[in-house]
Amino acid sequence: MRVLVTGASGNVGRFVVKELQQLGEEVVVAGTNKQKLIGIFGSDVEAVTLDFTSPDTFKEAIKNIDRVFLMRPPHLGKVKDMYPFIDHLSEQSLQLVVFLSLMGVSRNPFPPHYRIEKYIEQKCLPYTHVRPGFFMQNISGVHAEEIKQQNKVFVPAGNSETSFIDARDIGLTIAKMLHQPEKHHDKAYTLTGKEALTYNQVADILSDVTGKDIVYDKPSMLAYRKYYIEERQLDPTYVTVTMMLYLMTRLGTAKPVTADFSEITGKEPTSFKQFALDHVAAFK
Ligand SMILES: NC(=O)c1ccc[n+]([C@@H]2O[C@H](COP(=O)([O-])OP(=O)(O)OC[C@H]3O[C@@H](n4cnc5c(N)ncnc54)[C@H](OP(=O)(O)O)[C@@H]3O)[C@@H](O)[C@H]2O)c1
Repeated sequence: MRVLVTGASGNVGRFVVKELQQLGEEVVVAGTNKQKLIGIFGSDVEAVTLDFTSPDTFKEAIKNIDRVFLMRPPHLGKVKDMYPFIDHLSEQSLQLVVFLSLMGVSRNPFPPHYRIEKYIEQKCLPYTHVRPGFFMQNISGVHAEEIKQQNKVFVPAGNSETSFIDARDIGLTIAKMLHQPEKHHDKAYTLTGKEALTYNQVADILSDVTGKDIVYDKPSMLAYRKYYIEERQLDPTYVTVTMMLYLMTRLGTAKPVTADFSEITGKEPTSFKQFALDHVAAFK
């Protein structure tokens, strides 16, 4: 049987696909934009259209599938947008649904991931909740523009620390779980990198790797909001959600370091320095 990877074009999904293929699994990649998926994975991998907000796409996506990687697209504002697909999954005979959740949700009911985890459990699906910390790819993705153009890291996290994890490591862990579903039934794991760093340390590593003088700007929440909405023209709802996450970060919630990644994969997590070296072009 085959594994369905939702959000296959995303930061994590693309590495789930790659690692599952390395393990010899047959993968079906899903997203709202089939042409984008074919562009990324080629025509040898089966691509299906799946839109969580369009139930008429569900049946085809789940055909001959017995395991699922499930993620929540960040822009889907309402938690309930995810419920119809989860309902559909609960009517299938599945071995495992691995849900991409968020670090700390067991103690924090506010992020949507908390309610999605609970909904999956209520539906009696065989689940694994994967709760990662902040992705290193946030730095090479949404925050790269200021690093590249203005030599500054522009994140409202104060002096707090973050145990960043590489999305490549998350993808590897999730593929291992889907490959051996019986080992991970009804469990939750928190995935982090090997160390917690301040954004000053992030800026120092980026300076070292790029040869530029990159500093941490430490903006206030309001300055961050104004800049990201007015200058970068990002969706205000998305900016508000990230402000909430950086507020939690300031309170210390993003700094714990766990051993779950190493216990599952037998490997050391990727260091931020290695990540920066591998993605140096994003910062220059
Ligand atoms: N960034 C972090 O630091 C962090 C940390 C912990 C947890 N998380 C969680 O990780 C998740 C995001 O994962 P990611 O970064 O891998 O994703 P991403 O890069 O933001 O990609 C979003 C994916 O969702 C798909 N998608 C968009 N709308 C869809 C719809 N209506 N129906 C089905 N698929 C849809 C997109 O595919 P198409 O373009 O083909 O539609 C794309 O593959 C979020 O839930 C976030 O809260 C993030």
